[in-house]
Amino acid sequence: MLSLLRPLLAACLYLLLPGGQCRMPAYNNGFHYQDISNGNGNGEIYFNGVRLHVESPQHAVSAARGSSVILPCHYHYEPELTAPRRTRVKWSWLPANSISAPVSPAASARETEVMVAMGNRHRSYGSFQGRVRLRRSAPGDMSLVINELQLNDTGRYRCEVIDGLEDESVTVELELRGVVFPYQSQKGRYHFNFFEAQQACQDQDSTLATSEQLFTAWEEGLDWCNAGWLADGTVQYPITVPRDGCGGLELASGLRSYGQRHRLLHHYDAFCFSPAVKGTVYFSKHPTRLNFTDAIQACATSGGQIAKVGQLYAAWRLMGLDRCDAGWLADGSVRYPITKSRAYCGPPEPGVRSFGFPPPFLKFGVYCYR
Ligand SMILES: *[C@@H]1O[C@H](CO)[C@@H](O)[C@H](O)[C@H]1NC(C)=O
Ligand SMILES: *[C@@H]1O[C@H](CO)[C@@H](O)[C@H](O)[C@H]1NC(C)=O
Repeated sequence: MLSLLRPLLAACLYLLLPGGQCRMPAYNNGFHYQDISNGNGNGEIYFNGVRLHVESPQHAVSAARGSSVILPCHYHYEPELTAPRRTRVKWSWLPANSISAPVSPAASARETEVMVAMGNRHRSYGSFQGRVRLRRSAPGDMSLVINELQLNDTGRYRCEVIDGLEDESVTVELELRGVVFPYQSQKGRYHFNFFEAQQACQDQDSTLATSEQLFTAWEEGLDWCNAGWLADGTVQYPITVPRDGCGGLELASGLRSYGQRHRLLHHYDAFCFSPAVKGTVYFSKHPTRLNFTDAIQACATSGGQIAKVGQLYAAWRLMGLDRCDAGWLADGSVRYPITKSRAYCGPPEPGVRSFGFPPPFLKFGVYCYR
């Protein structure tokens, strides 16, 4: 064994100058025990060529806010072991907002712990306490079950199986089902710095969208010629039909990015992400049109509250809400959701139409949320 390693070690020492990395021959998604004394507590069992595999059949999972989700992760040894091992499992997490470039060593350093388990004992951390457990539906099943999904649970989860000094891991992305929508200040175009954009989305029961969410929205047809803040502090806009005034005809369709902008000094619109709504959004049955104050009252009378923009978008996109009647929303804007285009209901594409922010004494219908 040692004689076999000697030329390799020599090569490593050579390659280490000046700061290069020495790579031992790697095994694909697994590692070998080679004469390591590493038994089940008594240090007597020796393993030879036993390989640990950690796998996940799904690398991305999406679910609705408030629901439960399973992030799959399984491990097994090859060849199968006869004696049980003291295996530790650690789930950790990199929040979506902090994922920027592809996986880098710096990124893994920002991972925080979600749950650690050893045998039947386990411990969960932070906002995951009381909401997570391991599924354990079969030997080696270390899938993580998260209940009561929150908006800020999205990101990259790592399932790490630790056996003695060795460990092996897989990652699973967790996304929330939802809808991305552009949001503009009542004062007009480009009035939000990053923090104001964050607040504006929050006020609409949503969060700033991630680049991945905006990309998915673009794939699904979102075309918007105003730039908006995203969760990672970049400013981008999605174009499906290249045209003048929107980056020009020369650029291919896709996400146009201004890159990172100054979070305090630069002003743009916002791209918000609204997750699936638990309740329902409905058009008030009130017999007459209402000014803004009476609209708020009408929703309360029907046992709900005036709907937020994020709720209307989610209801339109995820529940097919379709209504050719302009209605007040909580931010003082007037909009209506169209899923099946028809005459006299605006442009030919489905979408949420907006009348902007009319004076509050004007009369419209109202969308409520319950
Ligand atoms: C995530 O959101 C929940 C409720 O909305 C909050 O209680 C929790 O502190 C948040 N967690 C983080 C890490 O921001
Ligand atoms: C809306 O109409 C009510 C009367 O129905 C009135 O008291 C209220 O001041 C009006 N609000 C606005 C913003 O015009």
